[in-house]
Amino acid sequence: MTKMTLLLLLSGCLVFAGPVQAGNVEAGKTKSEACTDCHGDDGKGDKDTPTTAGLSVEEFTKAIKEYQSGVRTKSKKMTKSANKLSDEDIADLAAYYATLPK
Ligand code: HEC
Repeated sequence: MTKMTLLLLLSGCLVFAGPVQAGNVEAGKTKSEACTDCHGDDGKGDKDTPTTAGLSVEEFTKAIKEYQSGVRTKSKKMTKSANKLSDEDIADLAAYYATLPK
């Protein structure tokens, strides 16, 4: 392998290993206004809705993706809410809910 090829390979890795777009907590807080009716201002939910506060970014993202893809079907309303979210919305909301105490 020539030095040039190595260099190209390396720079390619650098481009792809860039940081995953982290969510914006402030934006997530604003977007969560669409969720507080059911999940509460503090994300603690109530007798009908589970706690979203304190979920890790991974847990939160997985859950929303499961509503979007139809793996989770228990709540039509939650599926509808999830379907309105873009990947950026999910990242922002995940970042925000992860900051809330359980
Ligand atoms: C109309 C009421 C309603 C609204 C609005 C709503 N949800 Fe939900 N959500 C629910 C219900 C009910 C469940 C539980 C459904 C189930 O058991 O799968 C749920 C479940 C969830 C879960 C899974 C929690 C877990 O630990 O399994 C997450 C995450 C979530 N909602 C986030 C959101 C976000 C973010 C929004 C706003 C964009 C939102 N929800 C809006 C009712 C709602």
